[in-house]
Amino acid sequence: MEPLLRTTWTDPVTASHGYLVIDRLVGGIAAGGTRVREGCTLEEVERLARAMTLKSGGLDLPVGGAKCGLDVDPHDPAATAILVRFVQALRPFFETYVATGEDMGTTQAQLLQAFAQAGLGVPFQAIVNRSTDPPAEVARAAATFDIQSDGIDLFDLVGGYGVAEAAEAAMTHLGLKPGAITAALQGFGSMGGSSARYLARKGVKVIGIADAGGTIANPEGLDVEHYLALRSPFGEIDRSRLAPGDRALPRDEWLRLGADLAVPAAVADAIHEGNCDQFTGRLIVEAANIPTTAGAERRLIERGVLVIPDFIANAGTNGWALWVVLGLVDPGADAAFAKISQTMRRTVSAMLELADEAGVTPREAATRVALANSDRHLAALGGGTRSAVLE
Ligand SMILES: NC(=O)c1ccc[n+]([C@@H]2O[C@H](COP(=O)([O-])OP(=O)(O)OC[C@H]3O[C@@H](n4cnc5c(N)ncnc54)[C@H](O)[C@@H]3O)[C@@H](O)[C@H]2O)c1
Repeated sequence: MEPLLRTTWTDPVTASHGYLVIDRLVGGIAAGGTRVREGCTLEEVERLARAMTLKSGGLDLPVGGAKCGLDVDPHDPAATAILVRFVQALRPFFETYVATGEDMGTTQAQLLQAFAQAGLGVPFQAIVNRSTDPPAEVARAAATFDIQSDGIDLFDLVGGYGVAEAAEAAMTHLGLKPGAITAALQGFGSMGGSSARYLARKGVKVIGIADAGGTIANPEGLDVEHYLALRSPFGEIDRSRLAPGDRALPRDEWLRLGADLAVPAAVADAIHEGNCDQFTGRLIVEAANIPTTAGAERRLIERGVLVIPDFIANAGTNGWALWVVLGLVDPGADAAFAKISQTMRRTVSAMLELADEAGVTPREAATRVALANSDRHLAALGGGTRSAVLE
């Protein structure tokens, strides 16, 4: 299915490109994060926007999917100014249809600042603009978004918390116990760092973590909290302070550490046909968006590996942010964690049961459920495309 809209923006100052893709509007709203990555393409953003439609449908949320991407190195000192100009240029969309949030290369705090600097309010302004009292809605949501849990913003935790809950539901399906398995992760930013924290808290032994600078490994288990405390704002670990017994390995070694569980939580297409056979475990839980190529997933499934698809496993951030903005969850960390846990366990179990019954892959089962939910909301609320902007 074609997306509703694809837009390419050229920065008048640096000639960098930015992209907005609206895959589907439901009730006049499409939600999805903003990615800042050197090499980001329109095609990548289009695939991610599609995944956002499925993510909203998977959690039965009454919104469609969109995504923004900037082909910019997030370390570039000009990145913030480019992001502000991008937001300003796409203002008509951000005021009306598109609600965004953090993604790879951006934090929620950076986005809030960029939207404020662009004079646009907040990244989810399109949704609050539909309420009768937008400033009160912004204040209510902002109070919840401001919360931290054990020193980290809740916004940067809920995604990985959901990944860990999805992983545990999948372990139950496979008859595995968290305390008896090992995990390796690619990425140690918002998603990877929080996935590692909550997997470790379940008793999973985290034996490898890769960031952009390489892999850190220890077959006896890594002290996740030690590395969370040393992490840079870009999710990178200071190599001068490795814990005793931990080894620094090349970046791509994370997949061949012999872990039972792999959590790709960084780049797209991280697991492909050229490296998927390096993984000898039973379970892959996709914290990143589109981290496994279709060919690799086929090969892994043939080998009996269970792959929990991205748009289910990593939907915690999107789901929680939308629940908050739409007023569907109580404020506070406890309410957030409780609702994510309940929703994730129920969704993963239902997906795996349907996959078994229908003889299809978990991704196919989840896609059916997600699209049926999205179609139902679309039928009830309409697409909202009859507007001045998109007509
Ligand atoms: N942040 C969210 O709320 C959220 C929600 C759902 C999905 N996602 C997806 O999760 C993935 C990660 O997003 P994030 O927000 O955690 O990003 P982030 O910028 O916070 O962290 C990215 C991490 O990946 C590492 N990394 C980058 N390139 C790498 C490489 N080639 N090899 C190994 N590590 C590498 C970085 O060093 C960093 O540790 C993306 O695919 C994103 O779309 C993010």
